[in-house]
Amino acid sequence: MNIAIAQSGGPTAAINSSLCGVFDEAEKYNEIDRIYGSLNGIEGILNDNLIDLKEVLITENDKQLLKRTPSTVLGSCRFKLKNSSDDDSDYKRITQTFAKYDIKAFFYIGGNDSMDTVMKLDAYFRENHIDIKVVGVPKTIDNDLPLTDHTPGFGSAAKYVATTLQEIIRDSRVYSIPSVTIVEIMGRDAGWLTASSCVLRANGEPAPHLIYLPESDFSQERYLEDVKRISERYKAVIVAVSEGIDCLASRSEATDAFGHKYLSGVGKYLEELTRDHMGCKVRSIELNVMQRCGSHIASLTDLDEAWRIGAAAVNEALKYGGSGIMMGFRRISNNPYRVGIVPLDVRECANKAKYFPKEWITPEGNNVTIDALNYFLPLIQGEPKIDYRNGIPVHFRLDQ
Ligand code: F6P
Repeated sequence: MNIAIAQSGGPTAAINSSLCGVFDEAEKYNEIDRIYGSLNGIEGILNDNLIDLKEVLITENDKQLLKRTPSTVLGSCRFKLKNSSDDDSDYKRITQTFAKYDIKAFFYIGGNDSMDTVMKLDAYFRENHIDIKVVGVPKTIDNDLPLTDHTPGFGSAAKYVATTLQEIIRDSRVYSIPSVTIVEIMGRDAGWLTASSCVLRANGEPAPHLIYLPESDFSQERYLEDVKRISERYKAVIVAVSEGIDCLASRSEATDAFGHKYLSGVGKYLEELTRDHMGCKVRSIELNVMQRCGSHIASLTDLDEAWRIGAAAVNEALKYGGSGIMMGFRRISNNPYRVGIVPLDVRECANKAKYFPKEWITPEGNNVTIDALNYFLPLIQGEPKIDYRNGIPVHFRLDQ
């Protein structure tokens, strides 16, 4: 028998590590012959666009390099399967490709929307008595998948955001004049990644002085009052703002296949608002895709966990016959940090979001509590060893 792996949704610094986890564990099973990689997520299965991963991941060095390479080595997609009761043509094509390549287990590394594909495929196979296991391996920098303590990719994004913010803080203090710097952080409608900027506090850094999340009501008046008050104490005010806050910013009406609006522009909007009211130097910085593909400052904990959860998915499908599940983390303790890996019913995870807890937001709605700091800190620990060529980190590439 053979198996297939695909990656889907927004990339992260750890999604290739999960692919390596699936690959390494699958190699231990004598009954598994080929390990296929599907290019551009489920689209590769639909279009018969597969590669034999054993032909590209040849040496231990290839795998070590891939583990530390950001983004999705197999490409990605944002493809929504129709309900099979409305139109089952895609399901038939997928079944044909699986039959052609004798694929008996499919591992889909993705976020909320990708779990929709896992759920629908598993249901279709069960209804039609087709014995193919479908298992979801979570990933998203947004950290918004339900039931799992956190998602692979998030810890590295959080470490990148905190590290970059710290550098921005140093830069913001060089002049004697007052200033406000607004940093826009990804996360769609969940504020986890923006909230994680609080980890700088663990090193005695008071900035970012203000943190705004989509989970609390945003008022422009209160925001301006907050900035004014903080500027009386600090010459250089630093604001961390989530891309998903509701503030009349120019939101594109364009959406992806799952109906998510493309978000960006909140920082710029607040920059102009702040300049108009404060009359001081104001700059906005959109961290943009760098926060999900910056791997030079990845979290080793994140990369290792991403590998482990990929490996656990293989065992769940092949040893225990699991299907229609998403693997998840259960936190056992914070100090020392320990997590277990458990199978979760994918129907409880697909198309649902886990929001930042309201009780971890300060009553003023402009910062987060110590509980949030304790939750985030273990996820950003450790640094991977990076190989450099000509002074530049080396990435694993399929398109050499
Ligand atoms: O889901 C991850 C994410 O990076 C979000 O944080 C962001 O809003 C969105 O994807 C961006 O989507 P795209 O990759 O389609 O630009």
